[in-house]
This record gives sequence, C-alpha cells and structure tokens, in this order.
Amino acid sequence: MVFNTYAHLVSSVFFIVLFAHAEAYDPLDPTGNITIKWDVISWTADGYVATVTMTNYQMYRHIMSPGWTMGWVWAKKEVIWSMLGAEATEQGDCSKYKGNIPYCCEKKPTIVDLLPGAPYNQQVANCCMGGVVPSWGQDPSAAISSFQLSVGNSGTSSKTVKLPKNFTLNGPGPGYTCSQPVTVTPTLFLTSDGRRQTQALMTWNVVCTYSQFLASPSPTCCVSMSSFYNSTIVTCPTCACGCQNRENCITDSKIQSIVGENTTTNGPLLQCTQHMCPIRVHWHVKLNYVSYWRVKMSITNFNYGLNYTQWTLVVQHPNLNNVTQVFSFNYQPLMPYKSTNDTGMFYGLKFYNDLLMEDGPNGNVQSEMLLEKDMNTFTWDNGWAFPRKVYFNGDECVMPPPDSYPMPPNSANANPIASSTLSASVLLILLVFW
Ligand SMILES: *[C@@H]1O[C@H](CO)[C@@H](O)[C@H](O)[C@H]1NC(C)=O
Ligand SMILES: *[C@@H]1O[C@H](CO)[C@@H](O)[C@H](O)[C@H]1NC(C)=O
Ligand SMILES: *[C@@H]1O[C@H](CO)[C@@H](O)[C@H](O)[C@H]1NC(C)=O
Ligand SMILES: *[C@@H]1O[C@H](CO)[C@@H](O)[C@H](O)[C@H]1NC(C)=O
Ligand SMILES: *[C@@H]1O[C@H](CO)[C@@H](O)[C@H](O)[C@H]1NC(C)=O
Ligand SMILES: *[C@@H]1O[C@H](CO)[C@@H](O)[C@H](O)[C@H]1NC(C)=O
Ligand SMILES: *[C@@H]1O[C@H](CO)[C@@H](O)[C@H](O)[C@H]1NC(C)=O
Repeated sequence: MVFNTYAHLVSSVFFIVLFAHAEAYDPLDPTGNITIKWDVISWTADGYVATVTMTNYQMYRHIMSPGWTMGWVWAKKEVIWSMLGAEATEQGDCSKYKGNIPYCCEKKPTIVDLLPGAPYNQQVANCCMGGVVPSWGQDPSAAISSFQLSVGNSGTSSKTVKLPKNFTLNGPGPGYTCSQPVTVTPTLFLTSDGRRQTQALMTWNVVCTYSQFLASPSPTCCVSMSSFYNSTIVTCPTCACGCQNRENCITDSKIQSIVGENTTTNGPLLQCTQHMCPIRVHWHVKLNYVSYWRVKMSITNFNYGLNYTQWTLVVQHPNLNNVTQVFSFNYQPLMPYKSTNDTGMFYGLKFYNDLLMEDGPNGNVQSEMLLEKDMNTFTWDNGWAFPRKVYFNGDECVMPPPDSYPMPPNSANANPIASSTLSASVLLILLVFW
C-alpha cells in the first residue's frame, strides 16, 4: 500500500513536471522534427527564385487533413511575385505597386498547400496534397511537401539576401515551434540522367519541433484494458482528457439532432464519456497459446466532427521484438535506441482502414496481433502483457493506474511488486532527466 501511494505520487509529479515543461523532446522519437529547407535556385532582377521543401522526419507524427499552414516574417520589404505548388492566403496591401502587381505583399505571409487536382501549370514536384504529409515511418518517400516562390525586393546575391525570420508551422493545429533559419551547405541536385550534379546558389534550414503541451494542454487520448484471464474491464481514467468541456459534450439523446445537421460547426463535437477523450485505445489480451499470445487492439473515435486520416498508433511493449503477425494494420518497428526493439507503429491499410471515421457505427478500427513468447521474460503477472506507453497520432495516451491492471487469478500479492518496480523506474527516469 505504501508503495502504491508512493508510486502514484511520484508518477503524478513526473506527469505534471513533464507537461509543465512543454519541451519538444519525445523519448520515442528523439530526433523527430520537420525541416523546412529553402534552396535558392536562381537570382532574378530584384530577388531570387527558391524551392521550399518541408520534410517530415518524425517517425509517427503526420500532418493530417486539413493540412499544414506555414508563415514567416520578411526581413525587409520583400514581396512574392509568383508561387507554384502552394498559395498565400492573403495578397495584402500592394497599393504601392503600379503596373506589375505582386502576388503577395504581406509582411507575414501565410502559405497553404494547393489541393489535389490543382491545374498542372501551378504544380511542382511533391506539392498539392492539401497539406497532408505522412510521417517518415509511414512513407519516407511521401513525407515531403514542396512549393516554389519568386521573391522580389530582396538581395540578389548570397551576400545581400536577408533570411526570412520567425517561421511558424501549424500541422494542422498548434504544437510546432520553429528555429530561426540557419544558412547551411548548399543542397546538391542530380540531373535526371544521374551524370551531373548541380547545386543550390544558397540554402537555409528551419527546424520545427513538436510539443504535445503546446498542441493541447490536456491529453487527447486514453487507454482501456481487458484480458481473457480476468473479466474486469479496466476503463480509461475518469476525466483522463479533462472534464472542463463537460457542458458542451454531446449526449446520446442529442446525437440524432446534431449528426448530419451541424457537423460543420467549429469546435470539437465530443461525445460525453466518463473519460472525455476524443480517442480511446483498447488493449485486449485475447488468447494464450503454448508459445504465442494474441492481442486485440481497437481504436474508437468519440469525436462527431473529425475523421482521422492516415492515423498512427505507437505502442511500447517489451514483446514487440517478437511480433509474428499483425492482422489488418501495417506494422513498422521503431527503434529510437538501437539496442531496444520494444516500440512500434501501427497504421491503417490504404483504402481499407487508414481513415478512422467520425464517432458512430464506423468510428473505430481494429486489429489483432500474434506475439511469440520469450519464456525467460513472458508472464501474465504484474500487468506485463499491457503496453508501457501508447501514442495516437503522436500524442501520448493516458493509461489507467498500474495497480488497476487486470490481474491473473491467484496473484493478489503481485501488485506491490509491480508498483515498487514502477516507482523505481520512475525515479530512474527522473534521475536521467534531471
Ligand atoms: C532533424 O531530423 C533530421 C533527420 O532525422 C536529423 O538529422 C537532424 O539532426 C534533426 N535536427 C534537429 C535539430 O533535431
Ligand atoms: C520574432 O520573434 C522574436 C522572438 O519571439 C520577437 O521578439 C520579434 O519581435 C519577432 N519579430 C517579428 C518581426 O515579428
Ligand atoms: C445548428 O446550428 C445553428 C447555428 O449554428 C443553431 O441555430 C441550431 O440550433 C443548431 N442545431 C442543433 C440541432 O443544434
Ligand atoms: C468523414 O468521412 C465521410 C466519408 O468520406 C464523410 O461522409 C463525412 O462527412 C466525414 N465527416 C467529417 C466530420 O468530416
Ligand atoms: C524488431 O522486431 C521485429 C518484429 O517485431 C523484427 O521483425 C525485426 O527484425 C526486429 N529488429 C531488430 C533489429 O531486432
Ligand atoms: C525474440 O527476438 C529476439 C531479438 O529480436 C531474438 O533474439 C529472440 O530469439 C526472439 N525470441 C523468440 C522466442 O523468438
Ligand atoms: C481481476 O483484476 C482486478 C484488477 O487488478 C483484481 O482486483 C481482481 O482480483 C482480478 N480478478 C480475479 C478473479 O483475479
């Protein structure tokens, strides 16, 4: 009991510290970032033409529909003469110009990707996906978004160009913080026959990192659990995602009138639940074989106003080093640290379940997974069969308290041990972080 209370205290302190810190460090993806690269391709009479390429190096955090929005502050009085593959949402005040009117005169332009199906003469390579960018782990070849712009009133040589400042990136909501641009070695390009290399006239980089706390002060996802060896269903913790929105949530009786009528209204259309999370991940330990065990995973959407496109689920569990088969989800091991193979990403099969539909009869996706037992480590005790960490779309899900995990019969004494190892590991984490 002492251990339990202690573990709770320590873990909740750790949780608060973690969230209050709002730092962009993610232990499951330590180098994850979105890099925005500007390659100056040619000088013009009053400026330059640049290709801007955004690469999502994050292993499991994609940019989902309605896509990214990028902004910056010009260093001087620059204007954009033209743009391909993306558009500025406002033209701004170009009244000083006669004859040739610039495309955008905003001091702080706001740029969005073009939609799929944009006219061919407005496209460039890797554009026009409506701002949707998969994560590096899902598809490294598609984790790129590009556009081209012609800038005027800037310098016309690498000595006189002033880099734009204060980049912002929404992906689609808040969460990213971007560095100031840094001039780097010019990018090399290979000609299409692969026999000649050319290089950018000048290149600068901006690195944007994600912080869950900036994206949303309260969590957005929780985990519930069950098992074949115990009939208890461990629900998500009450108010796991904060109960401050309780007044605005949608009860069963209101559903009929709202669905189909006001689904386009702004703001979350959350179903009233005891946990108040838009997403619940359920982990069910389903079957036990001699040398294998089987888990069923379900993700449920409690938001009537949002379809999750190209969703991702990240799980940390020591047995993920021996995944034998994953049914109806894609699986990709993630090894943030070369030595441990305990983290992996699940994501939907294209055109089958890569879209997690809005709350309702179709608002869930599920999969089963077969894991091979390592007899030295495998156990039903102490909640070993349940995940250590779960992330949905790159945001960490709230787990039930460790002493409530389903226990196998006849292991009533197992809990203090579980909790003491937990508090020890929490202390260890604290020591490592501090
Ligand atoms: C951004 O990600 C790339 C690719 O993983 C990595 O090489 C680079 O060091 C990262 N940058 C930062 C500032 O973390
Ligand atoms: C850029 O950001 C810095 C620091 O946040 C701020 O002090 C400065 O005023 C910003 N500059 C512009 C032009 O917005
Ligand atoms: C739908 O929205 C409109 C205006 O936003 C509101 O007047 C109406 O009551 C809403 N309908 C329902 C069923 O909530
Ligand atoms: C979700 O997707 C379905 C099918 O594409 C569509 O009918 C529905 O309107 C979408 N819902 C929302 C909230 O965008
Ligand atoms: C990690 O585990 C997966 C199965 O879960 C396996 O396919 C892969 O080879 C492992 N990778 C390493 C480097 O051990
Ligand atoms: C589990 O995976 C590890 C390395 O990934 C391997 O050494 C070990 O033999 C595997 N165990 C079983 C039971 O397959
Ligand atoms: C099932 O698990 C719960 C929660 O850990 C525990 O309180 C209960 O005793 C277990 N039931 C059985 C039959 O062991």
